[in-house]
Amino acid sequence: MANKTIIVTGGAGFIGSHICDWLIDEGDKVVCVDNLVTGKKDNIKLLLRHPNFTFMEQDVSRGLKIAGPVDQIYHMSSPASPIDYQKLPIETMMVNSLGTKNMLDMANEKRARILLASTSEVYGDPEKHPQTEDYWGHVNPIGPRSCYDESKRFAEALAMAFNKMHYVDVKIARIFNTYGPRMRANDGRVIPNFVMQALKGYDITIYGDGSQTRSFCYITDMVDGLTRLMNSGKSGEIVNMGNPDERKVVDVAKMIRDMTNSNSKITFHPLPKDDPTRRKPDITRAKDKLGWEPIISFEAGMKKTIDWFSTQM
Ligand SMILES: NC(=O)c1ccc[n+]([C@@H]2O[C@H](COP(=O)([O-])OP(=O)(O)OC[C@H]3O[C@@H](n4cnc5c(N)ncnc54)[C@H](O)[C@@H]3O)[C@@H](O)[C@H]2O)c1
Repeated sequence: MANKTIIVTGGAGFIGSHICDWLIDEGDKVVCVDNLVTGKKDNIKLLLRHPNFTFMEQDVSRGLKIAGPVDQIYHMSSPASPIDYQKLPIETMMVNSLGTKNMLDMANEKRARILLASTSEVYGDPEKHPQTEDYWGHVNPIGPRSCYDESKRFAEALAMAFNKMHYVDVKIARIFNTYGPRMRANDGRVIPNFVMQALKGYDITIYGDGSQTRSFCYITDMVDGLTRLMNSGKSGEIVNMGNPDERKVVDVAKMIRDMTNSNSKITFHPLPKDDPTRRKPDITRAKDKLGWEPIISFEAGMKKTIDWFSTQM
């Protein structure tokens, strides 16, 4: 017998597919909804024949009908890498606005709990470091990242409005950079870029002088955090989820080059507009309220990630 019925929007994407794996392992019944705009059926291929798993290829911005009760909704659908959302700015704004509205309506109708995948990008190029949940952010509303940043900020505001007006049990996860198997090799994010370049012996391209920082959380830690947040008590909770282990981008490039035994040269290129200079979550709230903190070291997570990318070549 399945425990709960859980919808995962964006369930064929990187983070969503790992959530689906986790929930199926827990014995839940999972409905994965994805229009495959940036996700892949390959990510869920092992689940497709599982009796508790259903895949619906659908755009959640256009609405979604599910018969029967629903207990929880992980609303993960949105292009997430800068390359994807800059190619799909209107679709990104639609899924984070209309798509989020549709899923909040469903949560209200079914009295289901909903977790919104928000992002550290709501902090923009932060003037406060590390970022705590009460920081309001420093975002350019018409910059190249605004379709993502601003629509996620709207999604958060909408979720809180449903919480206030309809008592929908909402959780908001502000996800910081996450990495691991099933990232797309060409999605333009730092880790896949560097790993693929190093494995192929191409130049490792750094944008800027590499002194900008990022904090990377391994995927299993992230899924652990997200599921804890979903199952935690307080409605309307907003929590940073990420690994506070802050690294300079140039150090990440060197580490990946060493771990892959690559002869790649490291080259430096102009920094894109509005690229955040520092990124590090303050996860005190997640520790206090969820008893969660990442346990996979960057070295251990990178080893698994490099191994996985090697098998994809
Ligand atoms: N990966 C990260 O480091 C990171 C950081 C911050 C926030 N997030 C958030 O986490 C979520 C998942 O990110 P990801 O890295 O797995 O990205 P991803 O691109 O791998 O997954 C997103 C999934 O959503 C699907 N999707 C997009 N628009 C849709 C629509 N209209 N209808 C149905 N499905 C749609 C895509 O096809 C894809 O499978 C996103 O909401 C993203 O904003 C991710």
